[in-house]
Amino acid sequence: MIEQQLEQLRAEAFADLAGVSDESALEAVRIKYLGRSGGLTAVSESMKSVSKEEKPRIGKLLNEVRNALTTALDERKAALLSDADRKAFAGVDVTLPGVAARLGTLHPITQLQDRAVQIFRRMGFALADGPDMETEFHCFDALNTPADHPARNEQDTFYFNDGRLLRTQTSTVQIRTMEKNTPPIRIIAPGAAYRRDEIDATHLAQFTQMEGLAVDEGLSVADLKGTLEFFFRELFGKDAKFRFRPHFFPFTEPSYEVDIKSTAVGSADRWLEIAGCGMVDPAVFDSINLRRKDRAFDPEKVTGFAFGFGLDRLAMIMSGVSDIRAFTDNDQRFLSQF
Ligand code: DAH
Repeated sequence: MIEQQLEQLRAEAFADLAGVSDESALEAVRIKYLGRSGGLTAVSESMKSVSKEEKPRIGKLLNEVRNALTTALDERKAALLSDADRKAFAGVDVTLPGVAARLGTLHPITQLQDRAVQIFRRMGFALADGPDMETEFHCFDALNTPADHPARNEQDTFYFNDGRLLRTQTSTVQIRTMEKNTPPIRIIAPGAAYRRDEIDATHLAQFTQMEGLAVDEGLSVADLKGTLEFFFRELFGKDAKFRFRPHFFPFTEPSYEVDIKSTAVGSADRWLEIAGCGMVDPAVFDSINLRRKDRAFDPEKVTGFAFGFGLDRLAMIMSGVSDIRAFTDNDQRFLSQF
């Protein structure tokens, strides 16, 4: 009796299977015979009532049918999947050359910035930052550049209706840092700066600077020179020669511009200007103290040095790029060379 039932189930199941044309129909067949209330499951439950003598034979047949069906279901499923693949690739010539996925790299300015940060870190400088949208106070007044100061003309920028502006220099971070911290201070601040300049081969309306500030007891021009020479030698190599040329910045006194000569920048016999720097002007400390309402930056007790340079300009010098706009054009042919 059971044997007949099993043979019938097998025949039915294979007939069903032959008519299957998609995965959901296939699943329906599986459930119909092997599911919890499927045909074969019911038969295996009725094994209890089979006599002891018959059990091995019938049990064997049951297994045989179950295995045959399972295998057939699996094979059918594989066949359906490869049919689907074949359909998806119909009309596609898989022998044609593919389009290689190109791996991106960090932007050259970001690469230089990372290197610069690493070098200053080794000298104990921490990272600091401030907002791009600044107050006039942080960008000019606190940096000893009052409203009628001629230095403001050279740094025209974009103003917002509320009186704020896009910072013309990262020197703003000097002020931000001194407002919130007390000496000793040793920070660097890379970031964007903005000016209302005519865009050409050497000017962008947005560029990248890196600022540095150290304030402590007993800092002198020797510390400033030592720090910058170490930094630029790490960047340009041991043969680099430096010149600290007296200059003027409102917020440092004395102030210098740093020139470099180095084979690494193709200028072994030509001085190239690369940075501005100087000793923090006591007037800057005074305006900070006034703001803080304390004497944390007493010019009688602490001195400081500051420096700033353009990362775009540095990158141009280092890689012989003659047009600064190359860094913002986003031309793969240019960028992929770094
Ligand atoms: N902020 C100056 C500029 O944008 C660069 C500079 C000069 C920064 C002297 C300094 C400094 O910290 O001491 O031209």
